[in-house]
Amino acid sequence: MADKLEQVYINFQKELGAIKDLKSLQDFEVKYLGRKGELTKILRGISELSAEEKKLIGEKANNLKNEMAGIIAAKKSEFQAEKYSGLAQSEKIDVTVPYSRRVGHIHPISKIRIELEQLFRSMGFMVLDGPQLESDWYNFEALNIPEHHPARDMQDTFYLADNAEWVLRTHTSPVQVRAMQKYGAPLRAIVPGRAFRNEATDASHEHTFYQIEGLMIDKDISIANLVAVMKELLSGIFQRDIEVRLRPGYFPFVEPGFELDIKCLICAGKGCSVCKHNGWVELLPCGLVHPNVLKYGGIDPKKWTGFAFGLGLDRLVMMRYGIDDIRYFHSGDLRFLEQF
Ligand code: DAH
Repeated sequence: MADKLEQVYINFQKELGAIKDLKSLQDFEVKYLGRKGELTKILRGISELSAEEKKLIGEKANNLKNEMAGIIAAKKSEFQAEKYSGLAQSEKIDVTVPYSRRVGHIHPISKIRIELEQLFRSMGFMVLDGPQLESDWYNFEALNIPEHHPARDMQDTFYLADNAEWVLRTHTSPVQVRAMQKYGAPLRAIVPGRAFRNEATDASHEHTFYQIEGLMIDKDISIANLVAVMKELLSGIFQRDIEVRLRPGYFPFVEPGFELDIKCLICAGKGCSVCKHNGWVELLPCGLVHPNVLKYGGIDPKKWTGFAFGLGLDRLVMMRYGIDDIRYFHSGDLRFLEQF
């Protein structure tokens, strides 16, 4: 029996040298000290020995077991230390390395658009979207601009070469009719979005620009409602008193139609390239929705009335921040963008 113990210990020592990681150490532990392990097998046979031998062998076996367990425990902590120091090596973070990743930020047009959306939501308006490639019908016809109407000349756009039925929308107004058809009356909605014109560009004109269309349809809507909402809009944006003037304006889809101008904030009314040297900037064309447009939208003009407006978002942002050329917006020039 003592020989067997001796042999187990010799084998144990021999195999120990080949154990190189935690996993094989675990198997090794099971093999020698586990319930079916080498040492346990021997200890089971102890009951057959004489009392004297039992004592002797028992003691020896116990010592051996403790020694083996001690050796395994030491190896285990050795391997664990290696493992963690390896991780620490590979995950080393040098906190002194300068942090240089450049993070973008919201474009000034988007910033004002988001502010306006919040303002209108607080007044119960939905925020809607519409297609930028629009049918000729929604862009013109349904807005009371028939095919040979001279008003089309003011809004020359880009047609698809092989299909003149589709245009890049010249304004966000077509979504008025889409919204009427979809939601019926009463209705309160704004439509922020991109519009396009075949335009010779200058400080205040771009071929691609942004508008926010507004529409409110209900019983007995009047110019008083229109003016109240426009005032709310302007004081929300500029956070101060703005000088405005209302003058008649012609748009086929409203009757009566108005131009709401604000005193130029770039030159304080003295005259500059943005206000075309007359001190006022056309900012908010608006009016009461033409009965024909209501009809196209499937709404009975005898029962319902409404107002609409089309805000030039780029110009508003220019006024708000004192930007003197609309072409900066799409220039992608970081020296411009980083100022906001
Ligand atoms: N869609 C017109 C444009 O882009 C602007 C406009 C004028 C919109 C009057 C309206 C409105 O809703 O009532 O020139």
